[in-house]
Amino acid sequence: MNLNYPFVRPRRLRNSPQLLALVQETKLDPSKFIMPYFVSHGKGIKEPIGTMPDQFRYSIDELLKELKKVEDLKIGGILLFGIPEHKDEFASEAYSDNGIMQQTVKAIKDEYPDILIINDVCMCDYTSHGHCGIVDEKGYVKNDETLEYLAKISVSYAKAGSDIIAPSDMMDGRIRKIRESLDEEGFVNIPIMSYSSKYASAFYSPFRDAADCFPKFGNRKSYQMDPANSDEAVLETELDLEEGADIIMVKPALSYLDIIYKIKQTFKRPLAAYNVSGEYSMIKAAAKLGYIDEELAVLETLTSMKRAGADIIITYFSLYAAKLIG
Ligand code: PBG
Repeated sequence: MNLNYPFVRPRRLRNSPQLLALVQETKLDPSKFIMPYFVSHGKGIKEPIGTMPDQFRYSIDELLKELKKVEDLKIGGILLFGIPEHKDEFASEAYSDNGIMQQTVKAIKDEYPDILIINDVCMCDYTSHGHCGIVDEKGYVKNDETLEYLAKISVSYAKAGSDIIAPSDMMDGRIRKIRESLDEEGFVNIPIMSYSSKYASAFYSPFRDAADCFPKFGNRKSYQMDPANSDEAVLETELDLEEGADIIMVKPALSYLDIIYKIKQTFKRPLAAYNVSGEYSMIKAAAKLGYIDEELAVLETLTSMKRAGADIIITYFSLYAAKLIG
């Protein structure tokens, strides 16, 4: 090929909005967005989350009002996190028939049967110590014991009517255990969206404030991945796919665009990127200070995730971006 100026001028195709639209390679689509929500017990609650401007903790009745927007904007789905009334070392509210998630899923399915409901499966919101599993005397999260609980929680969400089970705990072997348990209970057609490459990240802090799940001691580095590692993401993803994951994930998104690219290229399977709470709040904070333009920054960052290879984007900006795309 003889790509030579002045015959080749890339600027020719940037000369009008029509031309730009014609050659645009990546397009955001609200049907590929997933909007996370935090749900708590009670009535009439829409409580602002201090570290996540414009995000709220909803009681079920208030969430139902909010979900009209999700339906109207044709958002791909919602990802639910529960804030329990009761925490203990076994996360028992997570698998209680009358737990916050079970009540929420049933209520949504009654009013909005067509909204796709994804349930995050983890124990940290529900444990007294804030870790993602069963903890031993030394504070270590016990892998194999935790699997039993994760499976129990998953089956309980499926019984309530969940459409997708999304384990975020990072225990080894969880996908196989959850798949087997769902199948035994007859839920062979409920997909698993695995948080397959989940890094131990500083960008989860606002979420931990929102869901009240800061670990009371230690950190999550014995189960979440080291941000320095890339090959390890391939191993984690391969294991989850072999164990039966239907959708894989990279989390967080912005500091891990290389991982998104690599995982998509390697596996060519449906891939979600989680644009996490800290990524959301950084943009909100900088925009509030007038340092950046919020609309442009949101569209640019979401586009970069898609361009890197994400099919699905989990983002607190779902409704905002859907309105912008119009
Ligand atoms: C639960 C979980 C976390 C997030 C999603 N599921 C927190 C954590 O692992 O500490 C973070 C999401 C976000 O920051 O938006 N394990």
